[in-house]
Amino acid sequence: MAFLVQPASPSDAEQCEELSRAVALADQPLSVDNGFLLSPTSAETFREYIGTSSLFVAREGSVIIGFILAYPRESTHFANILDLFPKISWTDPAIAERPKLLYVDKKAVHPLYRRRGVATAMYQLLFTTYPEHCFIGATVEKPILNLPSQQFRIRHEFRRVGEFRADEFQGLTGYQSGIYARDGEWKMKETVGNNDEKE
Ligand SMILES: CC(C)(COP(=O)(O)OP(=O)(O)OC[C@H]1O[C@@H](n2cnc3c(N)ncnc32)[C@H](O)[C@@H]1OP(=O)(O)O)[C@@H](O)C(=O)NCCC(=O)NCCS
Repeated sequence: MAFLVQPASPSDAEQCEELSRAVALADQPLSVDNGFLLSPTSAETFREYIGTSSLFVAREGSVIIGFILAYPRESTHFANILDLFPKISWTDPAIAERPKLLYVDKKAVHPLYRRRGVATAMYQLLFTTYPEHCFIGATVEKPILNLPSQQFRIRHEFRRVGEFRADEFQGLTGYQSGIYARDGEWKMKETVGNNDEKE
């Protein structure tokens, strides 16, 4: 499989929306194996992120097979995350004080292209863009565990640095997410195609 990871352009917004809809929780068969996003994102919102955050896409030919959205602490988008910081039970509170934080808001890979290093390659481009930042993100644990997300973090040596709980959050009752953090270089899996290799 040959795929390319690069910054999104405005014309990618519709395909990104389509992919986000395909992996949104409401549209997923309920299985821990699938992974999910809590909600879809509109093309309009994707367009707003282009130029104001890091939105990268993975493409095979003209088809978008993955996207990742992230923004650093200095971005205006980070304000929403900062509002949540006091509500997080930190096991490593020093993380919240780090000046160079990069919040990875969401990522998705098309179900037909998973476990081939696409998400890893998208993180790799983020690392190249933000080599000095600590990456943070959340994985839903309750009421439904996002197993692929959790296992991805374990594989890539994220640390669980806190948790966020809410009676109700984005339509879910008894919500809990684990907050994960990781510094350092992202290495491609050795056995899969990347930006240069072909299978
Ligand atoms: C999480 C997700 C982005 C991973 O993308 P990917 O391209 O398959 O990831 P990579 O191929 O780079 O890495 C795969 C690693 O992730 C973990 N993983 C991914 N899917 C898994 C699954 N179903 N079960 C167990 N581990 C899984 C494994 O550690 C795997 O390594 P392995 O294949 O060598 O065992 C993808 O499953 C996805 O889009 N899920 C739906 C949306 C989502 O959950 N987003 C994350 C919200 S925080």
